[in-house]
Amino acid sequence: MKRSVFLLAAVMATIGVFSQKATTMREAFADKFLIGTALNTRQVVSRDKALQALIKDNFSAVVAENCMKAEVLQPQEGVFNFKDGDRLCDLAEKNGQVVTGHCLIWHSQAPRWFFTDKDGKTVSREVLVQRMKDHIYKVVRHYKGRVKGWDVVNEAIEGNGDFRKSRFYKIIGPDFIRLAFQFAHEADPEAELYYNDYGMDSPGKREGVVRLIKDLKAHGCRIDAVGMQSHVGFNTPLDEYEKSMDTFIAAGVKVMVTELDLSVLPWPKGNYGAAVETNFEYQKKIDPYKDGLPKAKAKEADDFYIKLFDIYLRHSKDLTRVTFWGVTDGDSWKNGFPVRGRTDYPLAFDRKMKPKGFVKTIVEMAQSDKYN
Ligand code: XIL
Repeated sequence: MKRSVFLLAAVMATIGVFSQKATTMREAFADKFLIGTALNTRQVVSRDKALQALIKDNFSAVVAENCMKAEVLQPQEGVFNFKDGDRLCDLAEKNGQVVTGHCLIWHSQAPRWFFTDKDGKTVSREVLVQRMKDHIYKVVRHYKGRVKGWDVVNEAIEGNGDFRKSRFYKIIGPDFIRLAFQFAHEADPEAELYYNDYGMDSPGKREGVVRLIKDLKAHGCRIDAVGMQSHVGFNTPLDEYEKSMDTFIAAGVKVMVTELDLSVLPWPKGNYGAAVETNFEYQKKIDPYKDGLPKAKAKEADDFYIKLFDIYLRHSKDLTRVTFWGVTDGDSWKNGFPVRGRTDYPLAFDRKMKPKGFVKTIVEMAQSDKYN
């Protein structure tokens, strides 16, 4: 008798375990891909228990929203400021989260001194290559063992596939990209290396990025993945977006969704992008949801996110991470870009830290047989 009660209890416990469904994104996506968030320093040091629990429970990966960019890490030549990046790594280690380094070489948020000498004149190719090397060596070595992979070069290709005519490009030439990858690999041979860019749904950008992957590989450079930033809007063509994902994978790299957010606001001039230097004047008519998001719009956003995660789950063999660019709507850079002072609703958690409707759906999708 006793034995059968024990057996029954054991069977029930087993069924219980097997039928227990994950309720958070972190649990649900555990065997699919990393699910991440970008953190600003205020969030990293926040003592708000609810916020810290939300970050820990929902995400398996983190990335610094700003504090690992060159202007912060090396504000003056030879003066390094690792404090905030270190604090991000401390938090991630406490939470058991993977850290991505963002980003080594980018035309934006690079310190001005990088490109000029003490008289304000543009530096030579040799000087800039040396500065790139010093920066990459110092930063990558500092975070060795703490950062799993680096966005080595960010946004070096235009929408038409040409190289962006950045100061790195103009002073060094197109091989600045190859050099950056080489230096990063020398500094930490274990670190994964990524190329990261926005507007990846555009066919021109797709072709340019594929040429870049092939060039890096032909020169024996390590490149593990292409990061698709994914600052999307309702008019982002998802067929083109998925085609880019497939094309990058076919070129022999993994893919990552590195900066996911969905703006529900009208774009002032039609086309979507993430060129951080873009800025348009505030107008009331392009800030329609200041007092709240109508149900129909919230539903449209939920549906769009579900379509995105359907793509992600179908690619989980080659897609290694999906990272939201922020935690809650209130913290999103989209409230200030490309127009300052608007109210956007782009992320997975609302201003009160409540998950959006789509979160429950994607958690269920991740565990459904359809994607196994
Ligand atoms: C953004 C940050 O979110 C803002 O806080 C900052 O003012 C500007 O940069 N592409 C990138 C990110 O690679 O680093 C950018 O982050 C958003 C676009």
